[in-house]
Amino acid sequence: MMKQQDLGFRVLVPEAGRVKILDQTRLPGDVVYNEYDDYRDIITAIKRLEIRGAPAIGVAAGYALAVAANAGVDNIMVGQLQAILHSLSVEIKNARPTASNLAWAVDRMLEKADLYDGDDIAQFRKYLWDEAAAIYREDEQMCALIGRHGAALLHDGDAVLTHCNAGALATGGIGTALAPIYTADCKGKKIKVFADETRPLLQGARLTAWELSRAGIDVTLLVDGASGELMRRGLIDCVIVGADRIAKNGDVANKIGTYNVAVQANRHGIPFYVAAPYSTFDDAIETGADIPIEMRSPDEVTHIGDMPIAPDGVNVFAPAFDITPHELVTGYITEKGVKNNTAPE
Ligand code: MRU
Repeated sequence: MMKQQDLGFRVLVPEAGRVKILDQTRLPGDVVYNEYDDYRDIITAIKRLEIRGAPAIGVAAGYALAVAANAGVDNIMVGQLQAILHSLSVEIKNARPTASNLAWAVDRMLEKADLYDGDDIAQFRKYLWDEAAAIYREDEQMCALIGRHGAALLHDGDAVLTHCNAGALATGGIGTALAPIYTADCKGKKIKVFADETRPLLQGARLTAWELSRAGIDVTLLVDGASGELMRRGLIDCVIVGADRIAKNGDVANKIGTYNVAVQANRHGIPFYVAAPYSTFDDAIETGADIPIEMRSPDEVTHIGDMPIAPDGVNVFAPAFDITPHELVTGYITEKGVKNNTAPE
């Protein structure tokens, strides 16, 4: 099974008391890791998309708490540190509101912290660091399983359309939407990938095309508006996308533009799969209408990088994500298998 290390990068590299984060805002031009030993800098890194993609944000959030626990004085009591972690957890959860993995990872770290009933502060800090590492490791394993289940849906020579980046750059492993493609490739099936560029921040062009081409996968880039024409020409066998949050009824929040692709796939009778681990399913939210959608800065729409591409002061609509209703989803590819057209149990 292909591991993320085989792709030559990690989204996050933990070191004693600090983390190095691969700065995805610099890709594809520069492969640069930024080093952080202050949880507030990790929050900033999440907000400015140095690390992004729902599962990778969850990994970063786990380490934000572990790094926070490591910082500060040695003569603090365990109970005091537990209270501090609770108080700063809200700030971490608010870094990006849509990806459920973020709050999921923070809650898991807090539950673990509360279970500690010793009084050795050094041991407590290591115990939390190990929990963040477990979240990372488990995410890698979930990606591998999603890859295995998803690859079984793919045939040699298939063409897969994807939107945004739900690959190794978005997770602790080989990705969610891209995992079936990497796994199928390892099994000798040649898959052709069509990657939407994904305006406004171009995760498809900058990240998906980068990681797939590095891995030797056949990838073709297209502007977002071209996906319907590709389908009309009969050139797409299936669509696989990731998810930031999935409501109890199966409605999916994912990168803005995903809904358009789902509607087009439905129009053309093309299977539309959502690949995501269980940490992305939020049973506390009944339908997609209740999923909080992050709004981004208008600058991301009116500019490409620093270059203005629209008149000054124009009105802008800039949601980061949209909702795809569950009836447009053919199946959910999870670490437990593929579940059809409704949220997995
Ligand atoms: O704004 P981003 O880059 O964090 O958006 C990422 C996506 O929408 C991904 O498709 C989603 O998080 C799934 S990642 C496995």
